[in-house]
Amino acid sequence: MRVADADAGARKFGVCAACHRVANGAPDAGGPNLHGVFGRQMGTNSRRFGYTAALIGAGGRWDSAMLDAWIADPRKVVPGTSMLFVGVPDPLDRADIIAYLRRQTD
Ligand code: HEC
Repeated sequence: MRVADADAGARKFGVCAACHRVANGAPDAGGPNLHGVFGRQMGTNSRRFGYTAALIGAGGRWDSAMLDAWIADPRKVVPGTSMLFVGVPDPLDRADIIAYLRRQTD
């Protein structure tokens, strides 16, 4: 059985890197810094980023299931979000990216 691979996820994070940095203390870009986002309240990972009211008001937490749905189709999870991203269609690619984000949270 194939398991989620954080190293593969680091490479696949390339599609996110257009808008997101993940290193601790790195500045926000088009999107908020994602260091430590795993397990956080939605819309709170970066203190400086100008989140939409839609994301802040969603009120959920970034666990595996929420991240999986978000990366597949952000606007389906939070209508009105400013994360204009087509989504990652392959569930295994999403699992790898989530494993990487989790590692960037330890
Ligand atoms: C075109 C730019 C862009 C791309 C590409 C992008 N994002 Fe985002 N992302 C954003 C923006 C903008 C927000 C803030 C959304 C809001 O406030 O509604 C965001 C928010 C997030 C959040 C919520 C952070 C928090 O503090 O709650 C996560 C998690 C996230 N993105 C993960 C990803 C991942 C993983 C990828 C790649 C699969 C990705 N994003 C690709 C722009 C992008």
